[in-house]
Amino acid sequence: MSTHDQLRFPDGFLWGAATAAYQIEGAPEADGKGPSIWDTFSHSPGKIFHGDTGDVACDSYHRYPEDIAMLQRLGVGAYRFSLSWPRIQPDGRGQANAAGLDYYSRLVDALLDRGITPVVTLYHWDLPQALQDKGGWAMRDIAEIFADYAAIAAGALGDRVHRWITLNEPWVVAHVGYRDGRHAPGISNPAQAVAANHHLLLAHGRAVRALRFATPSPAQVGITLNLTAFRPMSPAAADLAEELDARQNGAYLGPLLRGAYPSRLTADFSPAKVDGLVHDGDFGTIAAPIDFLGVNFYAPQYVGIRPDGEPRQGERLIGPHEVQVQPEGMPVTAMNWLVDASALYQVLTRLRDEAPRLPLYVTENGSAWYDYVTPDGTIEDYERVEYLRDHLAAVGQAITDGAHVRGYFAWSLLDNFEWAEGYAKRFGLVYVDFGTQQRILKRSGEFYASVARGNALPLS
Ligand code: FCB
Repeated sequence: MSTHDQLRFPDGFLWGAATAAYQIEGAPEADGKGPSIWDTFSHSPGKIFHGDTGDVACDSYHRYPEDIAMLQRLGVGAYRFSLSWPRIQPDGRGQANAAGLDYYSRLVDALLDRGITPVVTLYHWDLPQALQDKGGWAMRDIAEIFADYAAIAAGALGDRVHRWITLNEPWVVAHVGYRDGRHAPGISNPAQAVAANHHLLLAHGRAVRALRFATPSPAQVGITLNLTAFRPMSPAAADLAEELDARQNGAYLGPLLRGAYPSRLTADFSPAKVDGLVHDGDFGTIAAPIDFLGVNFYAPQYVGIRPDGEPRQGERLIGPHEVQVQPEGMPVTAMNWLVDASALYQVLTRLRDEAPRLPLYVTENGSAWYDYVTPDGTIEDYERVEYLRDHLAAVGQAITDGAHVRGYFAWSLLDNFEWAEGYAKRFGLVYVDFGTQQRILKRSGEFYASVARGNALPLS
């Protein structure tokens, strides 16, 4: 598929861009929307850099036609966005809020009018606060409650939306939300994290079934995981890398693909931590067949062991003797995340081996840089162009080597509310001036448009 000056992608390869509701919509109280855990969390002092909130964000609730115009300029065939659960069920359960559903219905129609395929994520982290007040993902009932929500969404949009993603990055939801407390709901409780993890998987399984029942025409249903490669800096760290792999990759791929958690999870991450957590039949539900797997990839992780427990320069302690390492000379983004596209290739070819027939989509990939508007009014984000080029080349190589990658979604369409980092970190192909809400296509957006239009990556 590669000639000397370009790498061609397979016919029908889906090019897209992605966003998430809380990160772009704003309008937290419009049309009967209830509060989500991110509304609560972002308004809690000290939780978000600079005290930022998603109250306005990109104002996409009102400006979605401008966003769609940008998708058209990017020449993409698909848009991955998420539904705000508390717009649709303000308290997380019971009757649907028609005005909330209407917003998404208009968005879907506007996309279809312009020939852009909607790819809908049901849950991208904004749990209705009323459900958190009852225990959130740590309570078992949430699986059934989530399936009811899935059925409502599919009943309203399923005549036009044919691609559904149940959950975005359950690892982040469970472990950053309930173990580290750096994300909403801001809880630091390992037992709750383990419980949340299991209930997220269960909710996914029930939602798969609900989506299949509720959509009038056959739907493609999948889940998005944040998978990565853990690389040991020395032979002594090999075990640590395997353990971290079991926590972040295996704890999802195992139950979803093989109906079992990896055996090597240590006590604090094992389902055995919570008595009675796993019921008979759970794995049958969780491993319900899916039509595709979504992969979010940003950076690999290098890890090492320091017997003296003293991190050296470029290292961060992640256990008594365990460190996360930034190898010298390897570039990092504005998030301080490593840039190494070979790890994306590694993840995709691993999935080729572990799930040989399962179609894959890269549902997020991108990078944050210190973007600024030049006096000419342009954004010359050559680092992002480089990052994109390298990662698209890795996807192309994985396809050549047998991985069934069917599409790629750049994160993100727009600069937006980057969770705990607020507006300080820009991931967009489109620059957003948060003072005026003006949108400007960045140099990387032009580059991505040329790739999407040509279905090929220029190699020079
Ligand atoms: C992912 C999230 C997405 C965005 C990127 C940078 O973990 O799914 O919402 O914040 O990271």
